[in-house]
Amino acid sequence: MSDGDRGNGSDRTTVIDADGLAYRYRDGGVVIDGIDVTVEAGERVAVLGPNGAGKSTLLLLLGGLLEPDAGTVRYFERDQPADAVRDRLGVLTQDPGEYLFNPTVREDIEYGPSQLGVPQSVADERVAALADRFDLSHLLDRPPFRLSGGEQRRAAIASVLSVDPDVLLLDEPLSNVDGDNEAELLGLLDDLSADGVTVVTSTPDTDLVPRVADRVLLLGRDGTVVATGSTRAVLTDTEGLRDAGLAPPTVVDLFDRAGFDDLPLTVPEGVDRIEQGSDGH
Ligand SMILES: Nc1ncnc2c1ncn2[C@@H]1O[C@H](COP(=O)(O)OP(=O)(O)OP(=O)(O)O)[C@@H](O)[C@H]1O
Ligand SMILES: [Mg+2]
Repeated sequence: MSDGDRGNGSDRTTVIDADGLAYRYRDGGVVIDGIDVTVEAGERVAVLGPNGAGKSTLLLLLGGLLEPDAGTVRYFERDQPADAVRDRLGVLTQDPGEYLFNPTVREDIEYGPSQLGVPQSVADERVAALADRFDLSHLLDRPPFRLSGGEQRRAAIASVLSVDPDVLLLDEPLSNVDGDNEAELLGLLDDLSADGVTVVTSTPDTDLVPRVADRVLLLGRDGTVVATGSTRAVLTDTEGLRDAGLAPPTVVDLFDRAGFDDLPLTVPEGVDRIEQGSDGH
């Protein structure tokens, strides 16, 4: 890994540059139909869309785990296959079971670092730190199939993070995760972003988006990007969200219905808005 590309500098590297992506599953219709995506180092981007919009498929294409029928994906501004940047690209797919295939959770989390030749002592430290952060320490010696759904998701995330990637593609990382662990994971993603790591998160949950992204790619049901822009612009367009099959964030909906202009995105912003409003009267 090279910290120079982690996005702390002023000259940003384009970490993923996808052009004209198209994909259809053999037994299905068109899923992704001509999507361009550019992600700069250090960005936080959400891929938002309803069930079946193609979010998971797009992340698999961006992560090089599916070959597009048309279009190209470049990594770190070079024509190179995803396999050449596996140590820099962490992909969490929607099914945590794909990461949990060793006899114990500890071996699952260590698997990536050991494949990449990371010294055992460093791998041990990473496992201990991640297990501590994700409340997995008491589960490290268990077979992964004896974990609950949320515990499996946390173990899968730990196994992706143990490689210490520069770019994370996370497909619904918080589904099945309880409030405490959600807060822990969001805090960890904030820390990684502060460190310059690029984070692309897919979700159908508009409430989650302000916590994980500054920019949004909104997928419609037809395999295309129906809107893209700042998180604020996309999430306050309540009609656009509804047209795409999504409910607006709860806070946006509340303040919209209450007749406020300049809609807040989050609960703290909403509290500020109410306090400003009551001060003004
Ligand atoms: N392995 C597959 N074979 C055939 N069709 C598939 C396969 N995986 C997904 N699809 C279809 O492709 C479309 C997009 O699926 P995808 O999983 O990318 O959507 P998604 O936006 O991630 O949905 P969700 O919010 O439910 O996770 C859907 O219509 C789905 O039925
Ligand atoms: Mg999906």
